[in-house]
Amino acid sequence: METYGHFINGEWIQSEDAIPVFHKYTGKQIASIGKASKEVVSQAVANSQSTFQTKKLSETERYDILMKVAEIVKQRKEELAHILVCEAGKVLKDARAEINRGIQTFIASAEEAKRIAGRGIPLGLGGKENRMAFTLRVPVGVIGAITPFNFPFNLTAHKVGPAIAAGNTVVLKPTQVTPIIACKMVDIFQEAGLPPGFLNLVNGSGRETGEYLLEDERIAMFTFTGSPGIGRHIKSKTGIRKVALELGNNSPNIVHNDAPDFDKAAELCVTRGFSNAGQACISVQRVYVHREVYDRFMEQAVKIAQSLKVGNPEEPTTDIGPMISEEEAKRAEEWIMEAVAQGAKVVSGGQRNGSLLYPTILASVTDDMKVVCQEVFAPVISIFAFDDIEEVFRKANDSNMGLQAGLFTSNLSLAMRAAQELHFGGVIINDVSTYRADVMPYGGVKDSGIGKEGPHFTVQEMTDEKLVVINL
Ligand code: SIN
Repeated sequence: METYGHFINGEWIQSEDAIPVFHKYTGKQIASIGKASKEVVSQAVANSQSTFQTKKLSETERYDILMKVAEIVKQRKEELAHILVCEAGKVLKDARAEINRGIQTFIASAEEAKRIAGRGIPLGLGGKENRMAFTLRVPVGVIGAITPFNFPFNLTAHKVGPAIAAGNTVVLKPTQVTPIIACKMVDIFQEAGLPPGFLNLVNGSGRETGEYLLEDERIAMFTFTGSPGIGRHIKSKTGIRKVALELGNNSPNIVHNDAPDFDKAAELCVTRGFSNAGQACISVQRVYVHREVYDRFMEQAVKIAQSLKVGNPEEPTTDIGPMISEEEAKRAEEWIMEAVAQGAKVVSGGQRNGSLLYPTILASVTDDMKVVCQEVFAPVISIFAFDDIEEVFRKANDSNMGLQAGLFTSNLSLAMRAAQELHFGGVIINDVSTYRADVMPYGGVKDSGIGKEGPHFTVQEMTDEKLVVINL
């Protein structure tokens, strides 16, 4: 069984305290990680800071390293996907898809390394004409990257790739629940030629190691994906330092009576509500279906939900694997039971077996049920019938979160109105809220976070715009 300590200045250092890492389906221990003390965190940050101050990689070097990372990941795809299956409980096909997405994220990051540019600033004010001004985009310094369990490879790639592309140094702290893939990523960067000190990793719990990072003022910017609660905490601890926060959502998806293909809409809502056991911030959660097509939609949705194979994520035909822990599956089951006690009907699923929660469709739901108004982060979707599109837009917006929303319609004006009126970071027409291409700007409004991911946009977040004025 492997033990992963902390990676500082190009070397793994072991740590005395250990945290076990479990296989999320079998429950067996598969590895252990170190628990970084305040001193270890300080050592990692100091090394990242001195690297930033004393060493520079050219744009071409950064491009070459990131392309090489993508190449190595391609060669080791099966091995890396298998790690995701074990430590995240991700079903094999989703694990492979995530590694493929990670490759694209690294390639897009590499390309951004060659495109970082400021802009010309016209100074056309009376008496100030004899000046020329432009801006440069410069790296912010040490980036603290705190990463989640649900897409532990690709969401880490979304932080580390652009940070390196922009010329920063990084201290990475993966979640203690799925740390192995991040440890492998660090090794891959080293194999790809990233010199020591540009990417350090500290393992440990959020409560301790994460806190030591937040307290270290040498970290110029934090990038975090996780819950709104922790996002708020990070914001409260980081003062005027930069933060990028990708937080939750209770994603609404609207199927209007003029949707181009109801069966396809039903298939997308169901498969994208349940993939990754519903553990994605943009997972389909609230589905509003026009009453005229509700019965047909529901019939199709139930048929698809019941055809999904639930079980061992290692089997290539499994569609839905375990949730990240039995506690989380129990929590979601309790929310379902609470909704049922309040009048909801379980149309499909509802059962739990350890950390496996069967894909669940709820009907007769109301806006105030937890499964509707909070982020369920489990394979649970709630389907409403609606008559009035105005009211649905209001309901969709009636949330403290706003990451992405989906609308199925053939009506161009309605689509354009949705684009304007739905208060979300992204509005997806004729696909579900779960749609994400890794190059697109991704980030929410309200409690869903601050800042955008997608390598081009993250590079903007991870650089400062510096002004240069020349007196001619
Ligand atoms: C997330 O959960 O925010 C990430 C979803 C994705 O990248 O598909």
